[in-house]
Amino acid sequence: MRAKKPESTPVIRLRKGRADDAETLVRLYAREPAVSDFAGLHTPERFRELVRSRSALLIVAEQDGRIIGALDAEIYAASNFSYFANVVVARRHRGRGVGAQLIARYEQACRRRGITTILALVYDWNRTMHRVMRRTRYRASGRLVEYIKRV
Ligand SMILES: CC(C)(COP(=O)(O)OP(=O)(O)OC[C@H]1O[C@@H](n2cnc3c(N)ncnc32)[C@H](O)[C@@H]1OP(=O)(O)O)[C@@H](O)C(=O)NCCC(=O)NCCS
Repeated sequence: MRAKKPESTPVIRLRKGRADDAETLVRLYAREPAVSDFAGLHTPERFRELVRSRSALLIVAEQDGRIIGALDAEIYAASNFSYFANVVVARRHRGRGVGAQLIARYEQACRRRGITTILALVYDWNRTMHRVMRRTRYRASGRLVEYIKRV
């Protein structure tokens, strides 16, 4: 009888988002209450705009050629500042460091562009993300409260 091969660790590839990822990313983001906000912002057009724009970053994580996670952010180059808008990892791929890898790649891209400050907003109920933020060494300012008005 042949010995069973040891399972190899799946390879995660990080790359820039492309226009043809847009529909897949809409589906990935749409399942998540933490990012599929009430305003319905995550449209294919928004993802394509993130790809085109020089003041945005879109990074995707792939395994076996399939997108399993993504991160998007805004860049304010003149102010050396970035707004870290969203990170999502598909449910069955969580807890393996994909989120942390996306954040590390994002920070690397920020440093390359001279960004010195990153700001992220996380819902108070999103305990997983608060943990990820602490582990990736972000500090909660405790200064921000969300105000909403429907007009
Ligand atoms: C928040 C989110 C992006 C985190 O993604 P993730 O890939 O699971 O994150 P990580 O794997 O890097 O970290 C999560 C946990 O896995 C652990 N982990 C990291 N690398 C690991 C590895 N190689 N092996 C095993 N576990 C690992 C981390 O230590 C962490 O453990 P903890 O739960 O005890 O803190 C994901 O849960 C998600 O998509 N949530 C819904 C959307 C959301 O809330 N987004 C954030 C708002 S913008």
